[in-house]
Amino acid sequence: MLTTATDMLNKARQGGYAVGQFNINNLEWTKAILLTAQEMNSPVILGVSEGAGKYMAGFKVVADMVKAMIEEQNITVPVALHLDHGTYEGCYKCIEAGFSSIMFDGSHYPIAENVEKTKELVKVTREKGMSLEAEVGSIGGEEDGVIGQGECADPDECKAIADLGVDMLAAGIGNIHGKYPENWAGLSFETLEAVKEKVGMMPLVLHGGTGIPEDMIKKAISLGVAKINVNTECQLSFAAATRKYIEAGKDLEGKGFDPRKLLAPGAEAIKNTVREKITLFGSADKA
Ligand code: 13P
Repeated sequence: MLTTATDMLNKARQGGYAVGQFNINNLEWTKAILLTAQEMNSPVILGVSEGAGKYMAGFKVVADMVKAMIEEQNITVPVALHLDHGTYEGCYKCIEAGFSSIMFDGSHYPIAENVEKTKELVKVTREKGMSLEAEVGSIGGEEDGVIGQGECADPDECKAIADLGVDMLAAGIGNIHGKYPENWAGLSFETLEAVKEKVGMMPLVLHGGTGIPEDMIKKAISLGVAKINVNTECQLSFAAATRKYIEAGKDLEGKGFDPRKLLAPGAEAIKNTVREKITLFGSADKA
């Protein structure tokens, strides 16, 4: 069932667990994630970066594919289709395309401009019955060519954005997209606690979910994180499984050219990653 992220995240925030956002890149990933969420009776958020949207031939293609897949595969758990790190223009494209949720990443604007643009998008998403994620303090690492420094957000700025009426807030707490460097200082729980103090029961979003130790994930959830984004870990498991299969020179049942067979081990690997994360985040049987 396609829905906004609002309800599932408010329930997660109150229930002390988190809903996974898994980024999609193609049909195989989408199917693997949806079937696993259904199997585990878990709500799920499908994240689409602007780069992935372009790769999949446009946001409308993505929205129509996801809606049709939910119907044809009998997916009854709540599913949000969410723009990940949207630009201001990208947000409007996804509103038009039929997404149920968007993230406006205004973290690189001066705070006054981030507030202005987020405020306008709160109004538009309310009218359209969609959910909105905002960001304060840029997330480190590289994603789709955008490099962030991994800042810790200013709790007062978080409050200013939360008070606009967004549904969820991504606050930088030293988290980084992609693999964490050897000398990573870890999540700043001091910042997270200070943000939580200011924004109350607002569901907080932890980006860069790949490679964060399990105890840190659990502590972050206990301090108000209700949505955790995972992308790189699915990419790594998909690539490793597919590569291993091809390099092993399996004859693929005499059909070594069939893409359905070539990509199958990768899809299975994504299912395993998603199962692990749903278990760790505590969202199984919460649909
Ligand atoms: P990772 O690629 O580190 O898992 O982060 C994903 C993410 O935060 C998407 O917004």
